Amino acid sequence: MSGEFEGRAALVTGAASGIGLAIARRLARAGAAVVVADYDEDGAQLAAGELETAGARAEPVVVDVTDPDSVQAAVRFTTDTFGSLDLAVNNAGVGGPSLPTGEYDVAAWNRVIATNLTGVFHGLRFELPVMAKAGAGAIVNMSSILGTNGFAGSPAYVAAKHGVVGLTKSAALEYAEQGVRINAVGPGFIDTPLLRETDNPMRERLISLHPQGRLGEAKEVAELTAFLLSDRASFIQGSYHLVDGGYAAQ
Ligand SMILES: NC(=O)c1ccc[n+]([C@@H]2O[C@H](COP(=O)([O-])OP(=O)(O)OC[C@H]3O[C@@H](n4cnc5c(N)ncnc54)[C@H](O)[C@@H]3O)[C@@H](O)[C@H]2O)c1
Repeated sequence: MSGEFEGRAALVTGAASGIGLAIARRLARAGAAVVVADYDEDGAQLAAGELETAGARAEPVVVDVTDPDSVQAAVRFTTDTFGSLDLAVNNAGVGGPSLPTGEYDVAAWNRVIATNLTGVFHGLRFELPVMAKAGAGAIVNMSSILGTNGFAGSPAYVAAKHGVVGLTKSAALEYAEQGVRINAVGPGFIDTPLLRETDNPMRERLISLHPQGRLGEAKEVAELTAFLLSDRASFIQGSYHLVDGGYAAQ
């Protein structure tokens, strides 16, 4: 399997931490040149340094996915630095507060939607023209199990992740003939810094929601993402794939 992405350039947003970092590592291990894009500048530098030390080609770039100019610049940086954009993972996301819809903070709503939904749109908006022109490319958008299930107390997050699934389907229909595959991944609750903010009783509750009796690991999401980006997934287009320890089977 190693070398499967040799000669391909990947842009991964939110790659300084958690799931994005695990994806960057997985793609780099299979030979991709990786742009580690994140608004955490130190984290992006550290992650890119780690990939380079392991023998990969990697560059950090500071990006704020809520800002279209910043995302456009990150896409341009990828093609300028590595000569192409073959793989993209629109992964950057935030959690937001836990409050019922009737009490939800309006500013928090706007921040979660701007990052988790509009941020994915910004990625597609600037990645797709490059890939369509090349006549090839593969994109994974990071949704969640909450892209199909509701979750009390997380209205903005749930709405954004449902939106990512719909956006993925529409873009996939538009670009299929041009050789670009776009799919979405729906992880269950994964043990990353995003989740470590939650207190212990909440963590125990989240674990109990998974029939496997544990949280997922970032590398398990990276494995599915790498598959969907690979030529092994050549007939997979516009669909939403769970990696959730059985959460949605209940
Ligand atoms: N952890 C989970 O349980 C879980 C489950 C399902 C889906 N997800 C999704 O996976 C993705 C990654 O989450 P994670 O758990 O690895 O979280 P994380 O907090 O470990 O990593 C998120 C990364 O995104 C970056 N980021 C946040 N806002 C940004 C912005 N505006 N511009 C650029 N970078 C930004 C952060 O700096 C961070 O490095 C998110 O979209 C999240 O919603 C996570």
